[in-house]
Amino acid sequence: MATQHDDVMAESASTDRSAEVDAMAASAKSYVPDDSVVEAAHIKDYDAFRRAANEDIEAFWAEQAQALEWYAPWEQLLDRSDAPFYKWFVGGKTNIVLNALDRHQKTATRNKLAFVWEGENGDRRTLSYFALDREVDRFANVLRSLGVRKGDTVTIYMGRVLELPIAMLACAKIGAIHSVVYGGFSAQALADRIADAKSKMLITQDGAWLRGKTVDLKDIADEAAEKSPFVQTMIVYQRTGQAVTMQAARDYWWHDLMALPIAIGDSGTAVMEAEDPLFILYTSGTTGKPKGLIHTHGGYQLYISNTLKHVFDLKEEDRWWCAADPGWITGHSYIVYGPLILGATSFMYEGAPNYPYPNRWWQLVENYGINILYTAPTAIRGLMRYGDAWPSRHDLSTLRLLGSVGEPINPEAWRWYRDVIGRGKLPIMDTWWQTETGGFMITPVPAQTLKPGSATKPYAGIIADVVDEEGESVAANEDGYLVIKEPWPGMARTIWGDPDRYVSQYWEKYRDKGYYLTGDAARKDEEGFFWIIGRTDDVIKVSGYRLGTAEIESALVSHDAVAESACIGVPDELRGNVIHAYVILRDGYEGSESLVKRLKQHVREEMGPIAVPAEIEIVESLPKTRSGKIMRRLLKAQVMGQPLGDTSTLQD
Ligand code: WTA
Repeated sequence: MATQHDDVMAESASTDRSAEVDAMAASAKSYVPDDSVVEAAHIKDYDAFRRAANEDIEAFWAEQAQALEWYAPWEQLLDRSDAPFYKWFVGGKTNIVLNALDRHQKTATRNKLAFVWEGENGDRRTLSYFALDREVDRFANVLRSLGVRKGDTVTIYMGRVLELPIAMLACAKIGAIHSVVYGGFSAQALADRIADAKSKMLITQDGAWLRGKTVDLKDIADEAAEKSPFVQTMIVYQRTGQAVTMQAARDYWWHDLMALPIAIGDSGTAVMEAEDPLFILYTSGTTGKPKGLIHTHGGYQLYISNTLKHVFDLKEEDRWWCAADPGWITGHSYIVYGPLILGATSFMYEGAPNYPYPNRWWQLVENYGINILYTAPTAIRGLMRYGDAWPSRHDLSTLRLLGSVGEPINPEAWRWYRDVIGRGKLPIMDTWWQTETGGFMITPVPAQTLKPGSATKPYAGIIADVVDEEGESVAANEDGYLVIKEPWPGMARTIWGDPDRYVSQYWEKYRDKGYYLTGDAARKDEEGFFWIIGRTDDVIKVSGYRLGTAEIESALVSHDAVAESACIGVPDELRGNVIHAYVILRDGYEGSESLVKRLKQHVREEMGPIAVPAEIEIVESLPKTRSGKIMRRLLKAQVMGQPLGDTSTLQD
């Protein structure tokens, strides 16, 4: 479909998705939910629920916030005076731990399982709400006794073990700000994030099991601590029992500290302002430096618990499995904090979905009686590849809802997920959101009619639209910029240490209108369904991971052999996108296979395995505009065998 807003797509990596959306929207078959699903749902009429909320957004959130406990009520629901630095529940006193743990100790939830866990090596563990609270209490005492104070930052670098949520909750409990760094990041990436957050404390583990091998987290943490002068104390949880070096007066075993008398006793939950920061979470943007987004104790806890309850219809008896990594926003919001606030039972699995065989996940669903599975299209595509026989061997009949997040879900994956995993009938909640939004933004609820490939409609209180360069709504089925027109409680409040960047990145473009710029292109059909096209900036989703081309380019340029580099995302059947890199070598270097290998290894060391380009091509020059901007669009068109389009601004 030719649109009048081709400029929106000009630099984006999403032209194929645009064609895919054309096809999907044209053949859009609607899936109307069964009566039984609607009857059981918390929200039976989504349109009415949304309409009521949108009529008075502040009244809606004030009412929803009654579901939470507060130490002291707020004086002002929303303060717009310093926009775009919006403040929610001003004057309200709370702590996310008050709702995630403390209040459950007074009810039957105390005896319920908070977490059910399985290690890749078959280890099993459960924690009741009572037991989890005890662990968090102890670890909070440990942190305090090691000098961690309210407002201090603590970096956590762990795999998928229950000590990760315990560490997060303990930080929150004492008012420290956690910064979880995904366990797949390299020492350099970890060091950069420690330095940016200025963390004196690093929590890690000896190693994590992955595909039958260990990921040597402590070794990587040691290297990071060397590169960053901040870390004074390291706490090491023992998971694999592998040999590690413990540095005297800096490193302590988790189990040693937890056994000390100072760990025992109620540590007391710190009373926080609603707007006090809860965590920093780094994500990729358009520049080389990752940005640390800040979420708060007050608005965030309301937003994620409210969306989780309604979108996945969490019920008392459910076993919920969000198969993301806790190191990303999906894990923060929907493995750790959201389910705990709702008093739900969450399942966590340590390892790879296909280890030792491609039925591992389906075996887990069967063994643990999972009711709701929430994962990413890339994982679905990966498992689909092994064929239907693997899931078909298992009893998946406990499943009643499915979910998808992180990237657009393509029609084949959607159908396989529904037909093979969902017995041809389970609704799929395709949730569109971002690290910045805290929780689901454009999403169905179970009672919503679905169109495969569409995230359907904005959640209640979320005023989303598709607009042109001037901020005017575009016509139905036209591509445009996806924006959010009104603030919401789960929104990130700022970028750690860089408020100017927060403004320029998200608010500058539509400053006079006060719209939040998502960075995604989208379109809206005649029935108000949103279709996400993809990023309009230089952010690329590889296997659902968010990467900035600029980060990978600067990693490449930091190698002696590289003078200049440009990276693009190229569509890939399995991973959504893969990275193709173009490099110009410095004088004196010759292109060779072994150099390409070394460059890939270099990116792995600088950033981690997720960022390694699938292809590195050595070139003599890069297409640039006369003002010197690399025209990645042309590189991409060339790879895809597409027409180059407008090249009038090309330098030569
Ligand atoms: C993309 C992940 C299409 C989008 C929670 C967004 C999606 C970016 C979807 C944020 C979806 C996320 N359909 N695209 N359901 N969900 N995205 O910060 O481009 O890792 O801007 O947050 O992922 O990625 P992030």
